[in-house]
Amino acid sequence: MVNLYFLTSKMAIEKSFFGKTHSGESVFKYAFENKHGASIDIITYGGRIISLRVPNKKGVFENVVLGFDTLEPYLSDPFYLGALIGRCANRIAKGRFSIEGKTYNLETNNAPNHLHGGSKGFDKVVWQAEIIGDCELELSYFSKDGEEGYPGNLNVKVIYELTEKNALEVSYQATTDATTVVNLTQHAYFNLSGDFSKQIANHEISINADKFLPIDETAIPIGELRDVTNSPFDFREPKIIASEIEKPDAQLLLGKGFDHCWALNNNQTFGEIATAFDRESGRFLEVFTDKPGIQLYTGNFLGEPLVYRSGFCLETQHFPDAINQNNFPSVLLHKNEVYNSKTVFKFLVK
Ligand code: GLA
Repeated sequence: MVNLYFLTSKMAIEKSFFGKTHSGESVFKYAFENKHGASIDIITYGGRIISLRVPNKKGVFENVVLGFDTLEPYLSDPFYLGALIGRCANRIAKGRFSIEGKTYNLETNNAPNHLHGGSKGFDKVVWQAEIIGDCELELSYFSKDGEEGYPGNLNVKVIYELTEKNALEVSYQATTDATTVVNLTQHAYFNLSGDFSKQIANHEISINADKFLPIDETAIPIGELRDVTNSPFDFREPKIIASEIEKPDAQLLLGKGFDHCWALNNNQTFGEIATAFDRESGRFLEVFTDKPGIQLYTGNFLGEPLVYRSGFCLETQHFPDAINQNNFPSVLLHKNEVYNSKTVFKFLVK
């Protein structure tokens, strides 16, 4: 069944049934298209972006995010394809932390650490959806006290908006009734060539950060903010991934490529913090955020049914393991506070 909601004469938001989870919950797909023909498909399972079509320099629209067109492969997806990530994106060392004198032990689903909210994180739950504008969808999820081991009842809202400037705006909001950890992000894998049989090696990346967070052998930051100068982590000027990723660098070996967080120079004020460019298609992506960090992940664990390193993620977020590292900006959310954050992915051609 397909419902068409014509909000203006030119635009439509299309809602359709996408399938059922193993526990029988219905999942819906929402398809938006702006006046210029850019379009996006979002499903309520994990709030996932399953496709995002933007033009190349010749005006040809192609999908630039890795995804599937049926629900089944998402139900067992180990890659977090296109998903919303929470309650706490990235890793918590040994799955352990203390809040207000109480110690919490979470699942170590990425042994020996906790990753992306646990094995049933926000990427694997069904969100409630409401169309709130021409190209605007609000997703909400209520995460119960104790879910995946985290304290506090958490109300989460994420608004996806596709603007007329071909920008995807992702706005996050959360409130809690007890002190908890919150770090939400979006895990889309981009491949601006639109050809997912190709690796992303030829993309040029820039990241506006003087420092990055070196990791240990379990991918937990060692606590240092390291100067990027003269290292493969210096993306202050755009560089091709291929020219850096195979360099004999101890940190690249630990990450099996790039899988690191950078401490952004804009210091939690909303601004442009990263770009990605695929010269052949001319597609150019600009990323804006108010978060303190960005994880560049080059798909080093991608495999069947997808191609190794065929997508990169630019996950705007708080620093990994921030709950255990006092020198990192806090990821605590208290009762009566509102977690508010915005990330924008803007698609252009050059
Ligand atoms: C994140 C992590 C990676 C990997 C992916 C999912 O980006 O940093 O190490 O776990 O998610 O495959």
